[in-house]
Amino acid sequence: DKGGHKHFMAKEIAEQPTVLGEAIRHYLTTDGTDVSLPGEELDFTKINRLTMVACGTAYYACLTAKYWFEQLAQMPVEVDVASEFRYREPPVTDGTVALFVSQSGETADTLAALRYCDGKADKILSVVNVAESSIARESDIAFPILAGTEIGVASTKAFTCQLTVLLMLALKAAKQRGTLEDERFADLLKSLNALPGLVNVALDAEPQMAAAARKLAEARDILFLGRGVMFPLALEGALKLKEISYIHAEAYASGELKHGPIALIDKHVPVVVLAPKDALFDKTVSNMQEVMARAGKVLLVSDHAGLDEGAEGTWQTIQMPAVDPVLTPILYAVPAQLLAYHTAIAKGTDVDQPRNLAKSVTVE
Ligand code: M6R
Repeated sequence: DKGGHKHFMAKEIAEQPTVLGEAIRHYLTTDGTDVSLPGEELDFTKINRLTMVACGTAYYACLTAKYWFEQLAQMPVEVDVASEFRYREPPVTDGTVALFVSQSGETADTLAALRYCDGKADKILSVVNVAESSIARESDIAFPILAGTEIGVASTKAFTCQLTVLLMLALKAAKQRGTLEDERFADLLKSLNALPGLVNVALDAEPQMAAAARKLAEARDILFLGRGVMFPLALEGALKLKEISYIHAEAYASGELKHGPIALIDKHVPVVVLAPKDALFDKTVSNMQEVMARAGKVLLVSDHAGLDEGAEGTWQTIQMPAVDPVLTPILYAVPAQLLAYHTAIAKGTDVDQPRNLAKSVTVE
């Protein structure tokens, strides 16, 4: 049942305020002032290294979480794609906790990576959507993301729920490790509680995204740029677009532009810049100017303050509500998803069942 939507993907994108709210309520105490983890209490002070492993979109959720665990909880984090991790035979040293992220909980490579860590890592954790899946069952602690059934092959609500649960784990880690001031911790929980409402506001910008997507649909190649915590989201935006619109898209950390990809820029290549007005914004604006100086067409996704400062000379803009910089990847996932969705609609491709792809990759 598509609930009145044309596609499961559209329905699942629209469900995000609700499912995010449920996930947040599940992991916060009733008064909303602390994170309470289900099941066994995890001692983050004893973790020397967190190794996160996943595939596809779940891998990009891990890459995002690396910024959070490092910046908020001062924890060393390693992230890898499961198909590389499992055959590299990486040493899993004392004090390592391994964390596997998977919507289905059945992805063959991720499951094999988990089994490789079994008996080597201090603990096996997972962040899963399907609670009775193999990955959940074989973990010491499985954290549910509570996204509900996801049918669209292109993962949307599972991604934002994965991010939200990972952020709450990082906040818990920060609290236990004493790396975050009480006031900042309280502030972030407040912002988290307000997030579903802001995701609703982001969804209201759908008409602008659809208009932008109609122009993107004419391109053969599209670049995505992001800096800091927005870099993994740029990767996710490019993957989403490739999967369902079949347009070639690539993502780069903004600072990498002049190390090669700038050679691709001309008037035919749209560049989607995901840049909230955060501490790194000015640096991204200067990267954008380098693109525009070469006739590149910039689609800037930012907030009011960012557009005020950086919109001049851009091709198109999309405005997001302002949000704490820590939470931007979750909020900006909405334009990443809707740009891909409407580009696919404009191209007439099969949004829910893209060619060559399966929802769950249970063979390697
Ligand atoms: O079920 P999983 O989260 O383990 O799946 C991992 C990837 O196969 C999955 O995220 C894939 O990349 C999606 N099609 C992305 O939209």
